[in-house]
Amino acid sequence: MKPWHELPLPAPWRRLEAVTSTPSTQEAVVASAGSDSGVVVVAAEQTSGRGRLARTWTSPPGAGLWFSALLRTKRPVADVGVVPLLSAVAIARTLNQDCGLTSSVKWPNDVLVNDAKIAGVLVQLVNSDSVVIGVGINTFMTHEQRPIATATSLAMEGVVGFDHPQLLMSLLGHLGELVGPIEAEGSWPSDVLDEYRALSSTVGREVAVHLPSGQTLSGLAVDLDPHGRLEVQGADGVVVTVGAGDVVHVR
Ligand code: BTN
Repeated sequence: MKPWHELPLPAPWRRLEAVTSTPSTQEAVVASAGSDSGVVVVAAEQTSGRGRLARTWTSPPGAGLWFSALLRTKRPVADVGVVPLLSAVAIARTLNQDCGLTSSVKWPNDVLVNDAKIAGVLVQLVNSDSVVIGVGINTFMTHEQRPIATATSLAMEGVVGFDHPQLLMSLLGHLGELVGPIEAEGSWPSDVLDEYRALSSTVGREVAVHLPSGQTLSGLAVDLDPHGRLEVQGADGVVVTVGAGDVVHVR
């Protein structure tokens, strides 16, 4: 296994910093990047790892691949909406192509294997010009270490023969290809979410969406809109578009 600093970074990534322990790589990458773009910080352990919807993200030493990657963008905020979904596609590609798994994406950006969560993404817009993409993949996490019963890891799925540097380089390649264009001016192609749709275990399912307002929306997840929001059709036939929430796959 080559040390991190000897690995050639795929475009548009320009600098990789590996740390033993940090509260959260989300803040560490902002501090490290300064005015640079294409900076990645990976940590063996996070002591205050953060998840979506203000949750904590359990990140014990060596149990997962925990990193954040920063890109600068001049694009409007609306263009950032698909970044979490594209990041989940990058993870699913890596797990499927490199690890022989059949993973799916659960809206908006969880990656599942056999209906259990193996990876998550936290995307934050900083100073309205920097997109920070935080990725957590449970790799060597054991059954005893898992934070919830519905979590899994590469090790728990029986994947062997991988290492973190190799996994990170592969994932950064996919992430760069899918999300890297946000550095340049322009807009996403109309088919930008097609691969997401193909990998989605949510679209076509009956779902209950717990909304930030505290309400729950039930219905059939019929599609995504061009910004990556979930379209849910209720029993009355009305389609509601959801921008944030916690989805439960009902059946
Ligand atoms: C989620 O599914 O709730 C998102 C989890 C994101 C976790 C990653 S680990 C690296 C980065 N640093 C953090 O504090 N969070 C993200």
